[in-house]
Amino acid sequence: MNQRDFFDNLAGKWDSLEREDIGERLVRVVTAGVVCPGHRVLDVGTGTGILIQYLLDAVEKDGHILAMDISSGMLQTAKRKGFPANVEFLQADIQESGLPESRYDRVFCNAVFPHFDDKLKALSEIRRLLRPGGRLVISHPIGRETVNNLHRDAGGVVAEDRVPPAEVMIPLLETTGFTGIRIIDEPNFHLVLGDKPLYTP
Ligand SMILES: C[S@@+](CC[C@H](N)C(=O)[O-])C[C@H]1O[C@@H](n2cnc3c(N)ncnc32)[C@H](O)[C@@H]1O
Repeated sequence: MNQRDFFDNLAGKWDSLEREDIGERLVRVVTAGVVCPGHRVLDVGTGTGILIQYLLDAVEKDGHILAMDISSGMLQTAKRKGFPANVEFLQADIQESGLPESRYDRVFCNAVFPHFDDKLKALSEIRRLLRPGGRLVISHPIGRETVNNLHRDAGGVVAEDRVPPAEVMIPLLETTGFTGIRIIDEPNFHLVLGDKPLYTP
């Protein structure tokens, strides 16, 4: 089984697995991204779209959200939620998105980063898609160790998927050209910020 099939199989029950207090944690994620009205936002690995309403509240009616996922099952569940027309869906792999460059003010990766096979490739592609001065937000609202343990216990295709520690994450982001790197690593909340520089020397 590959990752796409794994998440297709989870699509029907994903929302029932979410914690009751996930909403306030997702507000914290979006707040850290400093999302403004009118922003264009890419939600990588949107799944059933749990982040979308929080992003919509921030970008308001003039903003735009592209909700991307490799899993058609996850996307179908997200689409059934009836989001407004400024939310678009795309079945694609962030490692080779094929999207035009410098298009997004913000890119969010909520609970997806460990699943990228080639993290350097994914980060390079995200940097390409961000406009100069744009921001990447990588988040794990249940905490790094909790995610790593969940994947280990789940086994199969996600068994080895890990949220990297800061000493691995910072070089990955620096190598792919991000600046202003900040990491919050609390027991129940993990967040990484990186900015695409306004000017590239
Ligand atoms: C753990 S779920 C999280 C979903 C959602 N972001 C959330 O917080 O509920 C990870 C999602 O990322 C998607 N995914 C995994 N690898 C991906 C990739 N390379 N590109 C785009 N989406 C990917 C999976 O299909 C799955 O829907």
